[in-house]
Amino acid sequence: MRTLQVALAERSYPIHIGEGLLDSFPLAEQVSGNQVMIVTNETVGPLYLDKLTRQFDGIQCDTLILPDGEKYKTLETLETIFDALMSKRHSRTTTLIALGGGVIGDMVGFAAACYQRGVDFIQVPTTLLAQVDSSVGGKTAVNHPCGKNMIGAFYQPRLVLIDTRVLDTLPARELAAGYAEVVKYGLIRDPDFYHWLETNNDKLLSREASLLAEAIYRSCENKAQVVVDDETEQGNRALLNLGHTFGHAMETATGYTRWLHGEAVAMGMIMAVRMSCELGWLDPDLESALTALLARWELPVSVPEGMTPDQFLDLMSMDKKVHNGQLRLVLLKALGQAVVTADYDKGALDRTLEAFCGV
Ligand code: NAD
Ligand code: GLY
Repeated sequence: MRTLQVALAERSYPIHIGEGLLDSFPLAEQVSGNQVMIVTNETVGPLYLDKLTRQFDGIQCDTLILPDGEKYKTLETLETIFDALMSKRHSRTTTLIALGGGVIGDMVGFAAACYQRGVDFIQVPTTLLAQVDSSVGGKTAVNHPCGKNMIGAFYQPRLVLIDTRVLDTLPARELAAGYAEVVKYGLIRDPDFYHWLETNNDKLLSREASLLAEAIYRSCENKAQVVVDDETEQGNRALLNLGHTFGHAMETATGYTRWLHGEAVAMGMIMAVRMSCELGWLDPDLESALTALLARWELPVSVPEGMTPDQFLDLMSMDKKVHNGQLRLVLLKALGQAVVTADYDKGALDRTLEAFCGV
């Protein structure tokens, strides 16, 4: 097992990463009270819930199995969690445990932030995306019909437990979507890691366990450093959104049904890299190398058919990073040197959109 620390003073916490930790890590010792509620979904529950509940013999351990899917990441489902906590008489010293991907993690984290004004919670992420991104850093939320993650809080977990073995059951498409976020860390702040990913791309694709564990460790290390520097996204935490502004436009245009989030991010990163090349900040070879790297994982490398530059510009103008009418984008000044800026030649954005939309 390897351990990283997210150093946030009194809210600091460890991230434990290792194979088989669901069986071997003494999680019950990390719980301060005598009640826990494990929340999972109907896909992950049958696979891993028994392993986790076994750890809590001797204290009150309740479980809640929610339906699976982003469409259930709502205030209504949050109420189901509160109802379960109330009906089982959970007190302020209870601990909520999120067992699942980013949907469960975000929702249970927010429930923990709200229940009795805040109770402990532990993240046990089971998708690659959740292991390398959403379980670390304390962003918790549910969706509103008018927008994703619109209702939430910054609320850090007490501990993140990453069992790399759970990835064995993760569908290939979900693994690839998480891999896009792994590549993101290399691009924005860790060139050595990016080159390591290039070297090991095929072995990672074939799920070589020790390499996946290393990729997860280095991703969490990068994420933890970004979060420690800017916990509530006043500045550089926004760099984690490389590719997301382009990606959100494509997700919105396709009604959030065609692509997984990580797939849209993959394509968005290619577009951000191309635009950085158009600005003369990057060697164009990086765009072709990145495209090849992501294509091996069958991640999308072209924009949804029929999308136009005007549609992109319209949808991108809704982005949270628009300030005073200026569209700020995460771009690369060099490999590993991301910036969030509105100070770019708008012609480079137009040329990028025209190139990808084929006009
Ligand atoms: P997800 O939670 O929907 O999981 C994807 C699918 O994989 C689901 O069907 C799930 O049941 C299944 N699954 C999970 N673990 C499995 C396993 N080990 N074996 C088999 N199937 C498994 O999706 P996700 O990609 O993990 O997370 C996406 C969510 O994360 C979005 O809601 C997004 O907003 C959020 N997110 C949050 C942050 C953050 O910082 N908080 C960052 C990125 C994304
Ligand atoms: N996934 C973006 C963040 O944690 O800030």
